[in-house]
Order: sequence, then structure tokens, then C-alpha cells
Amino acid sequence: MSYAIIGFGSIGQALAHAFARKSIDVTVASRRPPEALAPQARAIGPTVVARSLRDALEADTIILAVPFWEHREVAKALPSWEGKTIIDATNTNAPVEDLDGQPSSAVVAKAFTGARFVKGFNHLSAAVLAADPNVICFTNRKLQASPPALHEQRAVTYDALLLRTRTSAHS
Ligand SMILES: NC(=O)c1ccc[n+]([C@@H]2O[C@H](COP(=O)([O-])OP(=O)(O)OC[C@H]3O[C@@H](n4cnc5c(N)ncnc54)[C@H](OP(=O)(O)O)[C@@H]3O)[C@@H](O)[C@H]2O)c1
Repeated sequence: MSYAIIGFGSIGQALAHAFARKSIDVTVASRRPPEALAPQARAIGPTVVARSLRDALEADTIILAVPFWEHREVAKALPSWEGKTIIDATNTNAPVEDLDGQPSSAVVAKAFTGARFVKGFNHLSAAVLAADPNVICFTNRKLQASPPALHEQRAVTYDALLLRTRTSAHS
């Protein structure tokens, strides 16, 4: 399992701290070149490595920590998201009409066609995440779907919970 955090602002850095605390390798990327992120990544910990966006997207599990509408730019970076798990940490206060009446998670999921999709980490502030909270919720709207879809989405949620379990290990 390999991990990347796309977006290295408040939430991206808080999550990077969580990975570093448990010595889990993670790449971090934004629109800026990796050299611009490297000093901050190094300051967080040796398992946090800045890469280009394209290189970071080679990870199996990708955490989106960008401003909400920027998910569309990230989604354009790969022709296919098959085999990837996206954990969407974004929030938006966009009017519901801008979202075509859909939940924001559905809007993001649609952009990453073929990916397994989990909403997570978005319900806590960066400060709380950085402080290693005891409870993190993951949701997936397809958990209410038909049994085959339910099975698949449980597997996706398991991936995310595994991440949390690993970040909780030894605490
Ligand atoms: N802050 C919180 O407490 C909090 C809590 C829960 C959820 N959230 C959500 O988390 C997301 C990020 O919030 P934040 O507070 O961390 O924002 P932020 O501090 O402004 O950081 C945003 C990061 O995204 C990068 N970025 C922007 N567009 C990008 C693109 N197209 N491709 C790659 N990287 C891009 C920016 O870096 P470059 O300019 O270098 O590209 C920056 O590193 C938002 O959706 C927010 O709603 C935030």
C-alpha cells in the first residue's frame, strides 16, 4: 500500500504529521514543484517526501487535501483512476445549485471515474487532526447501495480504516 497527500496546506500538513508519527511513508504534492515543499516535508519527518504531482499520483491511496473545486484539476492529471482509492478530505460551502443538487462527495467521486472513493478526514479541523484525534469517521454514500456494491465499498472503507488503524498503532 502506498499513500500520497495532494495539497500540502493546513489539512495536508496535519495529515502528513499523522503519517510521520507512525513512520508510514507518504508522498506529498501540490501545484508547486517538490523542491518548494521539501523543506516543510523534511521538517515533518523522514517518511514524508515531496514529489511532483504526477509522481505522487502513482500511489495506491490518494488523499485529496485541496480546495474543493481544485479536485477537478487533480482529476485531469490521470486518464484513468482504475485501481486507485481516493480519500476525499475536501469541504465546500458552494450553493447546492452549483453542485447540481448532489452531495459534494458525489461531485468529487464523479470526477475520479473508476476510483474507489471514500470521504474522510474532512469533518475535523487541521488543528484537531494534527493533534492525533481518537476518532475519525469515514463515509461512503454507496454503503446504502445494493449488496454487490456494498461489498465493494466495505472493502474501500476497510482500506481507509486500515490507514487509521496504522496511524493509531502504538498509541
Ligand atoms: N483547514 C481545515 O481545518 C480543514 C478541515 C477540514 C477540511 N478541510 C478541507 O481541506 C481542503 C484543503 O484545506 P486547507 O485548509 O488545507 O487549504 P490550504 O491550506 O489552502 O491548502 C490547500 C493546498 O492545496 C494545494 N493545491 C491547490 N490547488 C491544487 C491543485 N490543483 N493541485 C494540487 N495541489 C493544489 C495548495 O498548494 P499550491 O498552491 O502549491 O498548489 C495547498 O497546498 C479544503 O477542501 C478544505 O475545505 C480543511
